[in-house]
Amino acid sequence: MDKKIRIAIDGPAAAGKSTIAKLVAGRLGYTYIDTGAMYRALTHKAIGAGVDLEEAGEVEALLPGTQIILEPGAEGQTVLLDGEDVTGVIRTSAVTNGVSAVSAHAGVRAYMVAEQRRMAREGGVVMDGRDIGTAVLPDAELKVFMTATVEERARRRHLENLARGFDSDLGELAREIAIRDKKDSERPVSPLVRARDAVLLDTTDMTIEDAADAIIRLAGEKVD
Ligand code: CDP
Ligand code: CDP
Repeated sequence: MDKKIRIAIDGPAAAGKSTIAKLVAGRLGYTYIDTGAMYRALTHKAIGAGVDLEEAGEVEALLPGTQIILEPGAEGQTVLLDGEDVTGVIRTSAVTNGVSAVSAHAGVRAYMVAEQRRMAREGGVVMDGRDIGTAVLPDAELKVFMTATVEERARRRHLENLARGFDSDLGELAREIAIRDKKDSERPVSPLVRARDAVLLDTTDMTIEDAADAIIRLAGEKVD
């Protein structure tokens, strides 16, 4: 594959986007860009600054002094917020539960979308998020909308938590995921929706490998 295309992967929480996007990027020699990490980093900063996450003005006032850098590495992506490594801390439940409020603000989205377009300028990227195929890269050569049932997605997050050494309530996880999906899908600016030209990939009964293979096959069709 000589031509380096842009692959946009969108979908609800825990559908498998980042795991599969990373795998696809590795196989194609592309750069993986986790746009959710950028919204999480800003949310972490906003919580630390004690601002009201629902208040657009308060959150957006943080943007001029903010620098978010995604550094690709062999172990995945390192997230630097104002020079500090926040890769781990942006996955805490405080951030997870606050991120949809922060990412709904129009000024926040404009800032992030501009940054993300700049990062994808050269092509050869697999970018995952909620609005990549609709707003960030509407002319991406390949768009995938990845889904799975909410029960399966909660089960996956539960297993992930167990692997990290803590137990979680499956029903509670499913509720949290459903609330975040609803907020992300109903916000006025760049809601989570399937782009008309996105391929639907339901990973409920798919392994990670099968899903990655399916995307690589689709990418192959785009570069031929
Ligand atoms: O990995 P997970 O599905 O839990 O979420 P994420 O990709 O880390 O994204 C966290 C949150 O950031 C989402 O729930 C959205 O509120 C927001 N987000 C967004 O609005 N637009 C994107 N392109 C990516 C994430
Ligand atoms: O990025 P997103 O929130 O969409 O999902 P993820 O963080 O990549 O995936 C959530 C969890 O589901 C991870 O632990 C994956 O290993 C797992 N997964 C799976 O078991 N089977 C799949 N087909 C896809 C993901």
